[in-house]
Amino acid sequence: MDLYIGLLGCGTVGAGVVSLVRRRAGKVADMTGSRPVVKTILVRDTTKDRGVPFEHERLTTNPDDVLHDDAIQVVVETIGGIEPAKTYILEALKRKKHVVTANKDLIAVHGPEILRVAAENRVSVLFEAAVGGAIPLVGPLKENLTANEVTDLKGIINGTTNFILSEMTARHIDFEEALAMAQELGYAEADPSSDVDGLDAARKLVILSSIGFQTQVHLSDVRVEGIRHITATDVRYADELGYVIKLLAVGRDRGGELTLAVRPTLIPKVHPLAHVSDAYNALYVRGDAAGDLMFFGRGAGRMPTASAVVGDIISLIRNLKLGYVVSSPNGGAATTKPVVDRE
Ligand code: NAP
Ligand code: HSE
Repeated sequence: MDLYIGLLGCGTVGAGVVSLVRRRAGKVADMTGSRPVVKTILVRDTTKDRGVPFEHERLTTNPDDVLHDDAIQVVVETIGGIEPAKTYILEALKRKKHVVTANKDLIAVHGPEILRVAAENRVSVLFEAAVGGAIPLVGPLKENLTANEVTDLKGIINGTTNFILSEMTARHIDFEEALAMAQELGYAEADPSSDVDGLDAARKLVILSSIGFQTQVHLSDVRVEGIRHITATDVRYADELGYVIKLLAVGRDRGGELTLAVRPTLIPKVHPLAHVSDAYNALYVRGDAAGDLMFFGRGAGRMPTASAVVGDIISLIRNLKLGYVVSSPNGGAATTKPVVDRE
């Protein structure tokens, strides 16, 4: 049986989703009895070359072709930003469609409302791709580590800035040139100031902290500083002193009081985080039972991000077959913990 998917947006991530769904469809059908098929794709310009040959998929500029199609059970949102993505996702949920999204801007700020509407309509919203590209972070924090009090989340969670700082260090190129390369490679956000000013990492820290610390963190709780002011000279001096500069995101829970920050940090060259280069991400997690864990992998780019999106689609299909609604991450966190600014 075919399971129809409606795709909203077909840029870097969306085009990867189209090709990966096609590549995995046969295997998923063998595993679950349901074959995922991208039926309709919403874009702004149907004539644009997207680097993926379309077969039976229909391109449209009318959102109703996805949202009002009763045959579509899963809506995948890869438009990005707040609007119209938020309106489309809420409408999809109210029409009892499950949603998979890569949109951290939206989940970081409107996650609670979206999760509430999903719960009211007994459908799921999954967003593994919103944080860490290909690296499973949301799933482990939501499922595997729930036996722990998570006390520390610390790492590199923006690929663009890590790419820029790595290129400035290794090849002595300036900030603007490195940023242009990150955009060309599909790592940067549509508005790359989100990356370079630290907001993208802050949004991801909000999502991870809300799930990991089992509370509701807000973007305004995070102290944010980006890398725009870092010069080739800063990078060279750091290098001469035995350090590299990394944009670090840090979340701590000390007895129920949180500290949350994103800022450029000097890391000794011998530290494992100093070796996280290109658009790779790495996250340390400390749990009271598990101890220290480190997650590492490609944090941005077409296929790494598509891997996370399509993984969520397959989870949905498996659970639909069993008659379950997949519980959405941090949907149940009713408590709020105070945020203190110790540093
Ligand atoms: P992108 O390349 O800019 O693609 C955005 C797509 O959305 C384009 O196909 C665009 O259509 C479509 N779109 C934009 N506004 C629209 C509107 N009003 N109506 C209909 N379609 C619209 O962005 P991306 O890099 O794929 O990122 C998508 C999402 O994934 C974002 O939330 C981003 O934060 C997240 N994400 C990205 C990465 C990454 O490495 N790039 C990694 C993780 C998560 P046209 O092509 O016709 O203009
Ligand atoms: N712009 C983001 C980054 C994409 O560079 O990390 C992945 O979320």
